[in-house]
Amino acid sequence: MPERLSEALLDLWTPLIILWITLPACVDTAPTTPSQVLTSGSRLELNRLSEEQRILNRSKRGWVWNQMFVLEEFSGPEPILVGRLHTDLDPGSKKIKYILSGDGAGTIFQINDITGDIHAIKRLDREEKAEYTLTAQAVDFETNKPLEPPSEFIIKVQDINDNAPEFLNGPYHATVPEMSILGTSVTNVTATDADDPVYGNSAKLVYSILEGQPYFSIEPETAIIKTALPNMDREAKEEYLVVIQAKDMGGHSGGLSGTTTLTVTLTDVNDNPPKFAQSLYHFSVPEDVVLGTAIGRVKANDQDIGENAQSSYDIIDGDGTALFEITSDAQAQDGIIRLRKPLDFETKKSYTLKVEAANVHVDPRFSGRGPFKDTATVKIVVEDADEPPVFSSPTYLLEVHENAALNSVIGQVTARDPDITSSPIRFSIDRHTDLERQFNINADDGKITLATPLDRELSVWHNITIIATEIRNHSQISRVPVAIKVLDVNDNAPEFASEYEAFLCENGKPGQVIQTVSAMDKDDPKNGHYFLYSLLPEMVNNPNFTIKKNEDNSLSILAKHNGFNRQKQEVYLLPIVISDSGNPPLSSTSTLTIRVCGCSSDGVVQSCNVEAYVLPIGLSMGALIAILACIILLLVIVVLFVTLRRHKNEPLIIKDDEDVRENIIRYDDEGGGEEDTEAFDIATLQNPDGINGFLPHEDLLRESN
Ligand SMILES: *[C@@H]1O[C@H](CO)[C@@H](O)[C@H](O)[C@H]1NC(C)=O
Ligand SMILES: *[C@@H]1O[C@H](CO)[C@@H](O)[C@H](O)[C@H]1NC(C)=O
Repeated sequence: MPERLSEALLDLWTPLIILWITLPACVDTAPTTPSQVLTSGSRLELNRLSEEQRILNRSKRGWVWNQMFVLEEFSGPEPILVGRLHTDLDPGSKKIKYILSGDGAGTIFQINDITGDIHAIKRLDREEKAEYTLTAQAVDFETNKPLEPPSEFIIKVQDINDNAPEFLNGPYHATVPEMSILGTSVTNVTATDADDPVYGNSAKLVYSILEGQPYFSIEPETAIIKTALPNMDREAKEEYLVVIQAKDMGGHSGGLSGTTTLTVTLTDVNDNPPKFAQSLYHFSVPEDVVLGTAIGRVKANDQDIGENAQSSYDIIDGDGTALFEITSDAQAQDGIIRLRKPLDFETKKSYTLKVEAANVHVDPRFSGRGPFKDTATVKIVVEDADEPPVFSSPTYLLEVHENAALNSVIGQVTARDPDITSSPIRFSIDRHTDLERQFNINADDGKITLATPLDRELSVWHNITIIATEIRNHSQISRVPVAIKVLDVNDNAPEFASEYEAFLCENGKPGQVIQTVSAMDKDDPKNGHYFLYSLLPEMVNNPNFTIKKNEDNSLSILAKHNGFNRQKQEVYLLPIVISDSGNPPLSSTSTLTIRVCGCSSDGVVQSCNVEAYVLPIGLSMGALIAILACIILLLVIVVLFVTLRRHKNEPLIIKDDEDVRENIIRYDDEGGGEEDTEAFDIATLQNPDGINGFLPHEDLLRESN
C-alpha cells in the first residue's frame, strides 16, 4: 500500500508543481496576486477586499478571506513557498519586519521577516491537520513597534489523493439460502477513504468484484452484493470467497484501491429427500430379549442438514407390526427398532417389516420434486434361547379336606421346557413357604401330597411356592404360587357360646322365659350353622322346665309352673344336648345352672340363695368340703374336751373350775396377752396323754393343705 501511495505521489509531482505555479489561476477564491500574497492590514487593501469578503460570507468578519493554500504531502528538495505577506503601509524611512505567530509558526511555517515569504519547512498531511491559524504582524524593524494591529489568517492544506480506500469492517461473512433466485441480496460492504470527500474525486469510490464471479455481483455505487447465478446448491458447494475492490477517483485509472474478502455461506433449505443407506436390513434377536430392547437401527441419509435432514421413522407394513415398533432418534437421525411384545422362537422364527423415513420439515417449494420419504425392508430373525420351564398355570388353587389322610394327593402342578430340546423338569417345594413341612411334592410328576395332618380351625390357607427346575440346566428355574385351601370337616361339636347362669324368680309365672342361650361351633359348614337343642331323654318330661328353639338358632328355657321356692330347692341343673347339622352331626351336653331367687313384683332379681352368693365364686367343691371338715373337726374337739372333763370330774391339770373360768375369761376379755398364751399353752401341752389323740392346730394345717 505505501508503495502504491508513493507511486501515486510521484505521478503527481509534475502536475503539482505546475499546479502551484498556476494555482492563482486555478483557485478563484484565493485572493492572492500575483501568487499567494497577503496584503495585510492596509486600509486600502482591506477596504477593497472587504467588498469581496462580503460577497463570500457576510456573517463572518475579519480575515476569513485571508487564506493561503498549500498542497499536502509535498516533499521537494527545498521548502515549499506557501505565500508572502505584504503591507501597503508606506514604510517611509523605516524598515518593516514581518512577524508570524500561531499554529506551527517557526516549526512548520517559517517567514522571511524582510520579504514576508512564508515557507512550509515540513511535509504536511491534510488528513492529520487540514488548516492552521496564524497571525501576521508588521513591526518596525528596529524598535519592534507594531505598525498596525495583528492580522489573523489561515493556511489550508489542500488534499491530494494520498489515501486509499479501506474496508474497516472486513473481512466479511454473509449467508444466503441455497436455491435463491438470481439477484437475491446477500449483504453490502462499505469502504472508507480518508481523503477530502468534498474536494475532487479522491474519496469517490467505485466497487467491483475481483474474485467470486460468476456467482456474485456487486452494485458499483452502493456495494450491495447479490447472487449472480440462480439455484446455487449448498450440497454441491457451500462456501464462496468473494474479493471486493473499492477504487477511488471514481474508479478511474490512477485512483487508489483497497480490497476485502467476503465469505458467503449458503444456508440449507430442504431440497433433498431422505434415502435409506440400504434397501434391506437384517437383524437377529434372541427370543427371550427384554421388551423395549433395541434390536437394530436403520438410517435414511439426507444431504440436507439440521432440521431439514430430520426424518421420522415408521413401520408401515409387514407381519411383525404388532410385535415391533420404531422410534426416531433425533440426535443420530436414525430409527431404532424395538421389541414391543414377547417373541417365541417356537411359534415364529422370522419377521419382515417395511419401514419408512419421511422428512419432518418439508419445504413446499420443493415438495413437487417427489415425496420426501423413502422405504426399506427389515428382516428380523428370531433366535432360540434357553428358556426356563413354563407352568401350565400362573397360579394354582388346591383344596383339601382337613381330615385328609396323610400322603393323599392334594393336587398336581405341571410345567414344561418351552425349548426345542425340551428338558425334563423336576419339582420341589420352596421350604421357606412351607416351614412346617406340611406338604410333599413328587419331583417327577408334580403331585402334591399331605405330609402332616391339617386342621382348618388352626389355619385355612397354606400358600406355598413350587419350584420347577430343568434337569439339563439347573439355572433354568421357574416358580409358581400354589394356594392350598383347607376345607371344613365337621370335627367339632357345638357348645354353649358362653357360661350361662340363669335365675328363676320365685314369684315368676308359668311359661316365663328364664334364660336364652346360644351355641357355637368351631367348624365352618358351607351353609352356616344350624343347631338342634334337646333335653336328655330321661329329662324329656321334666316337670319343672321346658325349652323352645328360637328362629335365630338360639334357645329359650322356660319355667313350666310357678311356685318355685328357695327353701325347697335353691338350684336346678338342666342338661341340654346341642347337636350341629354336620354329616354326621356332632353333639355335646352342656348343663345350665338355674338358681331360684327372690324377685320384685316386676321380675327384678333381688336375693338368691345366701350361701351361693357368699361363697367365693372360684372356690372348688374340694375346697368347700375341706373347709366344712375343719369346722366339724373343731366342733368335735371342743365337745369332746368339755364332755370328758364334765363327766369324769377329774381336773387333770387345772385345779379347779375357777381357774378354768379365770383362764377363759382372761382369754376372752383381754385376748392375745403373753400370759394368756402361756396359760393356753400350758393347758394344751399339759395334756401328755393326748386324750383325744389330736393336736388341733396340726390338724388344721394338714387339712387346709
Ligand atoms: C393365600 O392365597 C389365597 C388365594 O390367593 C388368598 O386368598 C389368601 O389370603 C392367602 N393367604 C395367606 C395367608 O397368604
Ligand atoms: C322338680 O322340682 C321339684 C321341686 O320343686 C323337685 O323335687 C323335682 O326333683 C324336680 N324335678 C326335676 C326333674 O328336676
